[in-house]
Amino acid sequence: MDIKKIVSEMTLEEKASLCSGATAWETKAVERVGVPSITMTDGPHGLRRQKKETDHLGIFESIPATCFPAGCATASSFDEELISEMGKAIATECIAEDVSIILGPGTNIKRSPLCGRNFEYFSEDPYLAAKMSTAHINGVQALGVGTSLKHFVANEQETLRMSIDSVVDERTLREIYLAAFEEPVKEAKPTTVMCSYNQVNGTFASENKYILTDILRDEWGFEGYVVSDWGAVNDRVKGLAAGLELQMPTTRGVHDAMIVEAVKSGKLDEAILDKAVERLLKITFETAITPEQKEKYPLCLDTNHDKARKIASECIVLLKNKDGLLPIAPDKKVAFVGEFFEKPRFQGGGSSHINPYKLTPAKDEMGTFPKGAYAQGFLIEKDETDNTLLAEAVKLAKESEVCVIFAGLPDRFESEGYDRKHMQLPENQINLITEISKVQPNTVIVLHNGSPVEMPWLCGVKAAVEAYLGGQATGGAVMDVLSGAVNPSGKLAETFPLRLQDNPSYLNFPGDRDKVEYREGIFVGYRYYDKKEMPVLFPFGHGLSYTSFEYSGLAVDKEEALCTDTITVTVKVKNTGPVPGKEVVQLYVAPRASREVRAPKELKGFKKVALNPGEEKTISFTLEKRSFAFYDVAQKNWRIEAGAYGILIGASSQDIRLEKDITVKPAVPYARPITLNTPVAEIMADPRGAAMIGQLMAGSQMAQMMQKRQEDAEKGDGGPMAEMFAAMMKEIPLRAVGMFAGKVLTQEMLDAALQ
Ligand code: BGC
Repeated sequence: MDIKKIVSEMTLEEKASLCSGATAWETKAVERVGVPSITMTDGPHGLRRQKKETDHLGIFESIPATCFPAGCATASSFDEELISEMGKAIATECIAEDVSIILGPGTNIKRSPLCGRNFEYFSEDPYLAAKMSTAHINGVQALGVGTSLKHFVANEQETLRMSIDSVVDERTLREIYLAAFEEPVKEAKPTTVMCSYNQVNGTFASENKYILTDILRDEWGFEGYVVSDWGAVNDRVKGLAAGLELQMPTTRGVHDAMIVEAVKSGKLDEAILDKAVERLLKITFETAITPEQKEKYPLCLDTNHDKARKIASECIVLLKNKDGLLPIAPDKKVAFVGEFFEKPRFQGGGSSHINPYKLTPAKDEMGTFPKGAYAQGFLIEKDETDNTLLAEAVKLAKESEVCVIFAGLPDRFESEGYDRKHMQLPENQINLITEISKVQPNTVIVLHNGSPVEMPWLCGVKAAVEAYLGGQATGGAVMDVLSGAVNPSGKLAETFPLRLQDNPSYLNFPGDRDKVEYREGIFVGYRYYDKKEMPVLFPFGHGLSYTSFEYSGLAVDKEEALCTDTITVTVKVKNTGPVPGKEVVQLYVAPRASREVRAPKELKGFKKVALNPGEEKTISFTLEKRSFAFYDVAQKNWRIEAGAYGILIGASSQDIRLEKDITVKPAVPYARPITLNTPVAEIMADPRGAAMIGQLMAGSQMAQMMQKRQEDAEKGDGGPMAEMFAAMMKEIPLRAVGMFAGKVLTQEMLDAALQ
């Protein structure tokens, strides 16, 4: 297909017309030159295809489709293959419905537990979020369906999402927020990237050239096109010039006319428009659904439902299991309590809201426990306690051997469009848990929520299961875990703080009327709690199993490496318990003696491994430059500091089982430029600098006195004054040394001395 030729045959008006949608979900066709229209729709964890009335907030009904677990759940699987399988299953539904591009995955970072849309996102950690997004995109695109990696970038809240300015320093942007997009863009090559609604450091993402062109295209090599979030365009012409190819939804020609006018008046170079149209056409032709695809990838909703159940069960996180209360034997008298037992909360509200073709509440599978009984306990739609329902549930719990309470956040508590106000469960559920804990020691809590909740009641219950928003088959998956048919293997992709106030973004979320400043910088999630050595309710990476795992034999292929090397780390993991299980082995890198501000450790690898009882496997990880680097703003690049780095292998970020230090060096030693304000100790480390300082100080009285004090300090008999002088000698800038030596130094003199 000669795309350049097609573009050259189009009129200015036709080209401009392609830069916005025909409808809410379709692009425009230009039949004269054979350009088809394609359809794109939400996303991310299932197909939301509206056929009659359309909207971008999930108000009007969409056709029935499989609702897979949302991002909050799938990330907890820590299983890339599984997520790719899910992507493929979603793609079969797209193909059947002639949808060329499905809008997702959402890879924004969980900066605050309050973000209303956290349920759609993966993690507080960019490494994990990037891996999950890459897997999702690879799965969908393997069947020739396009994706839209969203929302690019710094869109971590719903409050004022269409206008807020996210103020993020460069290092934080690179290491945390952009990093979640970087790997998927480079490795999975999404057909489109969706720019976010918000501004990034003072410029709308939809017209931010630094973000859309300098970074996305020029640095990362993105070859697809950028689509606006629905209604995110502020200035269409600026947007096009900055790198926004497609505006959605339709503007009924109004913004297209602005593009035509801008080209005619010379405000916009037509070459920019031509390039944009080339990119649009490339993806349009690549993703138009073909009869061959339909034949090769037939749709089977029942198969997809089964997959949704399997995926949901892999995502469930066993938070607590005192005295091995779980799994529950089938002959136990079990009280199932809580309205979510019959009406599970399985997805979030807003544009990702899917119309599930089938729904399996846990109640449908009560037959697993023949002596089980159900009491509603509370009304999902209300916050206040209903005393009759409460009394009924407490009575049933008391008369049973085990009580399982299905609790969670009602729809109104978290959704696209607004943020949560607090991190608690509704009052009626807290009361119910408290009252039941008083009469039934064997109480289990199953949670359906898209983001962490505070658990002041946790010490009163023996077990807790985080089911998140597990999609249409969540009920069956939860019953599989409760009965032990499935051994839970999910791990938390986010920290559960003890209380909201502990979260690092607390003082700056959701910002003021115009802007939100990401003042916690790189200290997001566990990076912060680790640094402050703060207790948390459940750490990042936490998740229990019905079996136990033993770690041994940590080995590295290089104890000293250059950053250009790849380092292979191997470790053995053995299932030492009674049942088959899966463990998520996590690798963290800990800079041991950094001079930069760094997190104590960062996730740089993970593997999920299935093991039968007694079985042992060797897991291997590959580390490379980025595993050790930080973003150096002055150099505008990733940099490694020479020194020791801990390789930590853990079952969670707080449960490190093995560790080993290695030394890593940059390929080219890095020296900061020496200026008049460089501390003396740093200059002395360079022999040329030491000689220069020697010359400078030679014969000066100040030098003699300082020398004496320093010697005293080294001998340990100079007292506090000597300590002070020793410290000063290290930190005093060169400019001041000159002054004390009675010489005025200039940068020119310094440069000459260092030549
Ligand atoms: C959301 C996007 C979604 C789009 C289309 C917007 O409101 O932010 O995530 O893809 O609507 O429904």
